[in-house]
Amino acid sequence: MTTEHASALNTDPATAASGAQSPGRDTAGVEARRRRTFAVISHPDAGKSTLTEALALHARVISEAGAVHGKAGRKSTVSDWMEMEKARGISVSSTALQFNYDDCVINLVDTPGHSDFSEDTYRVLTAVDAAVMLIDAGKGLEPQTLKLFQVCRHRGIPVVTVINKWDRPGRSPLELLDEIEERIGLIPTPLYWPVGIAGDFRGLLDRSDGGFVRFTRTSGGATVAPEEHLDADAAAAREGDVWESAVEESELLSETGADHDQEMYLAGQTSPVIFASAMLNFGVRQILETLVTYAPPPHARDGVDGTPRHVTDPFSAVVFKVQAGMDTAHRDRLAFMRVVSGTFERGMVVTHAQTGRPFATKYALTVFGRDRNTVDDAYPGDIVGLVNANALAPGHTLYSDPRIEFAPIPSFAPEHFAMISARSAGKYKQFRKAIDQLDTEGVVQVLRNNARGDASPVMAAVGPMQFEVVTARMQSEFGVETVVNNLGYTVARETDKASAPGLDRQRGVEVFTRSDGVVLALFSDKWRLQYIEKENPDLTLRPLVAASD
Ligand code: G4P
Repeated sequence: MTTEHASALNTDPATAASGAQSPGRDTAGVEARRRRTFAVISHPDAGKSTLTEALALHARVISEAGAVHGKAGRKSTVSDWMEMEKARGISVSSTALQFNYDDCVINLVDTPGHSDFSEDTYRVLTAVDAAVMLIDAGKGLEPQTLKLFQVCRHRGIPVVTVINKWDRPGRSPLELLDEIEERIGLIPTPLYWPVGIAGDFRGLLDRSDGGFVRFTRTSGGATVAPEEHLDADAAAAREGDVWESAVEESELLSETGADHDQEMYLAGQTSPVIFASAMLNFGVRQILETLVTYAPPPHARDGVDGTPRHVTDPFSAVVFKVQAGMDTAHRDRLAFMRVVSGTFERGMVVTHAQTGRPFATKYALTVFGRDRNTVDDAYPGDIVGLVNANALAPGHTLYSDPRIEFAPIPSFAPEHFAMISARSAGKYKQFRKAIDQLDTEGVVQVLRNNARGDASPVMAAVGPMQFEVVTARMQSEFGVETVVNNLGYTVARETDKASAPGLDRQRGVEVFTRSDGVVLALFSDKWRLQYIEKENPDLTLRPLVAASD
């Protein structure tokens, strides 16, 4: 697989055609074609952090595994920015790692692993062009993998599947493929087939040329695993029956049509599969090669009015994440944007579509964990952190003329609700400021009604750990101690002002206005909701986007 092959496969005719018009456009077009922007989606513990590290190791971004993420016993916890994250071994913040590989620039966008932060993950997935679905060979598809896969399908993001931890005993490879096909309806098309069962990982059969890529373990998997390339005869002589059974299984796959088809992959019907051990760095180069060769480069994105913004058009970007206090050394607020079109140059003054105001981009950074570097220019597919961008919120658009506004990112249906107030009334002002900021960042949704008043708004979340983030940040960033009381509601529906009085009269129901103006009715449980809907067919009650939609 070569990069030339990649460019040939991925050339966007619109990019190629309009690229000839001006040198700036040409640069954006050429740079866009080199970009691969993707996220790894997985259930917690499938090995996302380990794989991120292994990819960085292969691209020579780091010299030894353990430098980027790392958990107990490893080098540092760079991406874990909050005490709570450290304690739980989870990562809430989403940042991006950029590195060169071959002729390509890879942007690996980090996603929070825990399902309580699925709304954040959804936002991150609006910023990528491709995804790697990481599966633990011993466990197969797990609930969070399934949910995240549905989001990719919904957004038309093509998926490469990596079956990880092949170095330890697990399930049979054919059984794992069957599970992918049966449970998510995606046709798996392995590019490489494992030589050796799970637990006896010797190497990969490269299905494109029938050769054998043999790996050698390095101490602790801390450095890139050396590869030896053998032809089929040499592989048979070396590995005997183990090689023969890999060949047989690979032939079986070809007979059932499980070979890569670029169009079907881009259409989300098939998924190239690679077997790997992120821990031993086996198969990691193959993952990078696959992304470079087959994953789509950035392409045009439609504005809310349906006008496409081609990658060669003037600068535009979409904000997908806002985060403050990412570590104690930098208490500023960062808005992460993904460049959609044109060339971004630090210092340029762009327009914030939602307010129509100019926005100066003096401080622009790439951020990965605690590593921050100034960005002087960026191209479609790149992720840039803008410092102290207080007006920006997830889903917002920045552009240089002509005007463009991209579709907003939908809020998810919350399922957990809690009242929050400052422990001390004297802290009300800071409390108010803090809750507004956390609301804008999308950490939780904030609901209010007259009965409860402004001093005790209600937080609405997809997962309860979002509340912990709020209380931890209230304390550490704003110096406000809070009191949180869980409310007994579990279901929310969108309603309107006309229906509000009728709903408020019902038992087990309370009506609120969300800060974006949407009127929400909260119900104690779905049976209550069903009963009220049945008895009051005139009331407006619309479902919200669910986390699993
Ligand atoms: P996550 O980010 O998806 O949550 O997973 P993470 O990389 O933290 O990996 C979860 C556990 O799985 C870690 O073990 C990690 O070492 C292990 N792991 C990841 N990839 C592989 C692999 O290819 N093979 C094997 N055998 N194990 C793998 P841990 O015991 O929780 O932590 P640690 O002390 O080993 O770091």
